Amino acid sequence: MNQFTTVHDVTDIKQLLKDALTLKENPYSLQDLGKNKTLGLVFLNPSLRTRLSTQKAALNLGMNVMVMNMDKEGWALETQDGVVMNGSTVEHIREAAAVMGQYCDILGLRSFPKLINREEDYNEDFFSKFIKYCGVPVVSLESATRHPLQSLADLITIKETWKGEGKPKVVLAWAPHIKALPQAVPNSFAEWMCKAQEDGMVDFTIAQPKGYELNEDFTPGASITHDLNEALNGADYIYVKNWSSYKEYGKVLTYPDGWMLNNDKLKGTNDAKVMHCLPVRRDLELSSEILDGPNSLVIHEAGNRLWAAQAVLKQMLEKL
Ligand code: CP
Repeated sequence: MNQFTTVHDVTDIKQLLKDALTLKENPYSLQDLGKNKTLGLVFLNPSLRTRLSTQKAALNLGMNVMVMNMDKEGWALETQDGVVMNGSTVEHIREAAAVMGQYCDILGLRSFPKLINREEDYNEDFFSKFIKYCGVPVVSLESATRHPLQSLADLITIKETWKGEGKPKVVLAWAPHIKALPQAVPNSFAEWMCKAQEDGMVDFTIAQPKGYELNEDFTPGASITHDLNEALNGADYIYVKNWSSYKEYGKVLTYPDGWMLNNDKLKGTNDAKVMHCLPVRRDLELSSEILDGPNSLVIHEAGNRLWAAQAVLKQMLEKL
C-alpha cells in the first residue's frame, strides 16, 4: 500500500482484516520491519485515540515516531499559491511538507474541514497539497471528508464480534449534538460498509433526519431511511454518530426528538451492539445507560484502532 487515505487505497480488504487480527494475536512479530524507519505524525487538530494508537502501532513494528502538533507548535501555514505572504501565515505548505518528507519515511496527517466552503473541503485541498509536496507515503489520521483508520477499526470490531448466522445488519444512526461536526466519520464508515456489503460481509442501512443526507458518493448500495425505528428493527450493530448537514453545508439544522439511542430503542433490535468512534457527549449524543451497559462496544472498538493502524503501517512498510 503506497498511501492510505480512503478504502479505495486498499486492494484486498479481507487481507487487511486478516493482517490486523494476526497482529492483534502477536503484536511484536514484525519488530524488524520498521527498524530504522521513521513515522511522522502531523496534527492540525486535537486527538486522543488516533495519536496514541498510531504511535503504539509504529512502535510495535520497530519504527521511530515523531509527533508534530502543527496547530500549536508549528508555523502558521499558507496553502494558497500565488499569494504575497504579508499576512499571518509564515510558511508555505510547499516547503513545510517537503521538509517533513526529508525527515520521515511515512507521514500521517490530521486536518479537519473548515465547514464553510463545501467545495474546498470536499476537494481535500490541504491533504492533496500535503501529499503532493511531502514526497513520501501518507496515512490519513482524518481528513476533511474521511477517517479511514477509524473505519477499518470499526470493520475489524464487527468482524471479530459477529457470531450470528449470515451477514449482520449494520445501521449508521445519526444522533444529536450541539456543535456542527464534520461528515468525515460517517462518510468513511458508510464508504467502508458499502464496500463490505459489496463483498458480502454486511447489510448496511443509514438512518438520519431529513436534511442530513450524506454525499451520495459515499453511500452506493446503502439502504437509506428517515425512520430510526424502522432502521433499528432487527439491527445487529448500531453505529451512532452526529454529523452536520451536507446539503446546507456545515449547518446544525433543527433536529427532531427521539434520535438519542437508549435501552428502550434497543428493544426492536437483535440485541444490537452499539458503536461510536469517540469522543462522545454522554446523554446528548448517546445515553449513559448504553455506554455503561452490556451492549456497548466503544472501548473494544477504540482498542482496535491499534490493530488497524498496525496493519496499515505494515502494508506501507512492505512497499517502501
Ligand atoms: N476517534 C478518533 O479519531 O478519536 P480522536 O479524535 O481522539 O483521535
